[in-house]
Amino acid sequence: MLLLAVAFIVAFVLLLYMVSPLISPKPLKLPGAHVVVTGGSSGIGKCIAIECYKQGAFITLIARDENKLLQTKKEIEKYCVNDKQVVLCISVDVSKDYEQVENVLKQAQEKLGPVDMLVNCAGTSVTGKFEDIEVNSFERLMAVNYLGSVYPSRAVIATMKERRMGRIVFVSSQAGQLGLFGYTAYSPTKFALRGLAEALQMEVKPYNVYVTVAYPPDTDTPGFAEESKTKPLETKLISETSSVCQAEQVARVIVKDAVQGNFNSSVGSDGYMLSILTSGMSPVTSITEGLQQVVCMGIFRIVGLFYLGSFDSIVRRCMMQREKSESADKTE
Ligand SMILES: NC(=O)c1ccc[n+]([C@@H]2O[C@H](COP(=O)([O-])OP(=O)(O)OC[C@H]3O[C@@H](n4cnc5c(N)ncnc54)[C@H](OP(=O)(O)O)[C@@H]3O)[C@@H](O)[C@H]2O)c1
Repeated sequence: MLLLAVAFIVAFVLLLYMVSPLISPKPLKLPGAHVVVTGGSSGIGKCIAIECYKQGAFITLIARDENKLLQTKKEIEKYCVNDKQVVLCISVDVSKDYEQVENVLKQAQEKLGPVDMLVNCAGTSVTGKFEDIEVNSFERLMAVNYLGSVYPSRAVIATMKERRMGRIVFVSSQAGQLGLFGYTAYSPTKFALRGLAEALQMEVKPYNVYVTVAYPPDTDTPGFAEESKTKPLETKLISETSSVCQAEQVARVIVKDAVQGNFNSSVGSDGYMLSILTSGMSPVTSITEGLQQVVCMGIFRIVGLFYLGSFDSIVRRCMMQREKSESADKTE
């Protein structure tokens, strides 16, 4: 009887594996596609643009600094796979004025055709203790990281729905999956992207438009180097519990997941665990993904509790050391 039950379960799981590709989205064809990358002049965004260009896409790079954009354009063009490929540069602040963002994207579409894939990668970070962060930094980060993703997406979504094809990528962060010491201004902006992505995915799925939320770990980029200069000790010590990834590796994973139409995009074993743990009511793009979440959720919660315990003890140790050195200073 037990053998029969086991055989039935195995057969059921095998069947699910086999039908899984049938219900998954059709992969987007990158050769000849128009890919827009905000924040494409540096770090992860630049590597995403290179990865798409290497696969034959036409690229629009969006960022503010014109010189950096032109330098990146030259760098990307070295990876040309056919002589028709174009890299277009647009200098605009994605967080300031919706109409301006809409206009520049209209111009880009007139030149390179409708947008097949939009990667919202422009972003910035401020770390520090809650009471030490300038109040206007909370507004600025929400504007750049959240509204700076809403505006470009809002400007291209109608055409994607009309054409019944497209991909929208939101580059969140592992700090958009769990709140950590020092990220009170940054984390909420990245959590917000997840809410936007879930709601938008439900709206656009019937139109064959797929949304991906990427959760990169610490990644070696100019932005990361800048952030590291002012990180509180606690944040540094917690970050050091996992390794720093290369931007090229992160970009490859994001592009692969976006092309496949996967809702979740994570890097490495920590990223995999966090994505399962925080899957909640997020959409799944394959039965195998759903099965993995059902099976692994409980065990990963146990592992997660150990991590939380060690982070709490780092914070407590730093606080005690700080108090000790402050009282030593006073007695001198
Ligand atoms: N690096 C990491 O460890 C890490 C980890 C998780 C998530 N992320 C996320 O990944 C994304 C890229 O990070 P990164 O480390 O590669 O950053 P980066 O090297 O600092 O690059 C940021 C890019 O965004 C552009 N940008 C910033 N503000 C903008 C604005 N208002 N309008 C238009 N463009 C703007 C920058 O160009 P201009 O300054 O010229 O505008 C630049 O091209 C960010 O959303 C970040 O939050 C990074």
